[in-house]
Amino acid sequence: MKRIAVLASGEGTNLEAILEAVERGEISGRVVLVISDREKAPALERARRRGVRALFLDPRAFPGREAYDEALAAELQEAQVDLVVLAGFMRLLSPVMVRAFPMRIMNIHPSLLPSFPGTEGVRDALEYGVKVTGCTVHFVDEGLDTGPIILQEAVPVIQGDTVETLHARIHAAEYRLYPRAIELFCQNKLRVEGRRCYIDAE
Ligand code: GRF
Repeated sequence: MKRIAVLASGEGTNLEAILEAVERGEISGRVVLVISDREKAPALERARRRGVRALFLDPRAFPGREAYDEALAAELQEAQVDLVVLAGFMRLLSPVMVRAFPMRIMNIHPSLLPSFPGTEGVRDALEYGVKVTGCTVHFVDEGLDTGPIILQEAVPVIQGDTVETLHARIHAAEYRLYPRAIELFCQNKLRVEGRRCYIDAE
């Protein structure tokens, strides 16, 4: 049984979808720890409500990004985590974290990468005028939203969409996609060669 940690800075609706999928038996792993860089993140409360250990790790308590990531990696190692899942974690990870968990950190991004990386993926796609956007689950490497792609789902842009309406439909796709990607990892079905992530058949 894989041990999973989720890192989240905000609402934590993806976290909730993951916890529900675990409870339904759709993920053959266990979420053992949730960590946030924001004390008031609703994600922490969602975790506690479901009996999952929730930890606030305060960035202001550390001199810089690397020191923070060392503390983060230490907590995750202490909890013997196999997979780190970023779910709206709004900090770029330093090489310290990425090297501590090579191809064992996943992120979900609200666009079809490599289009529209960064913090405004939904807004940037809408403003560019694309007709199709979506979401991407990928492994985290040392770049910004650049790691090997695990799964993607397309979401059409509808005339009259605002950032909010479009993000709501992308969120709905995320709640399906992220648990599937996590389950593939739990079943040891993901194999990365260079930039490409292969999914092994049953
Ligand atoms: C999601 O849209 C995800 O793609 C992005 O941040 C958002 C997090 O939402 N990385 P939530 O906190 O899971 O509700």
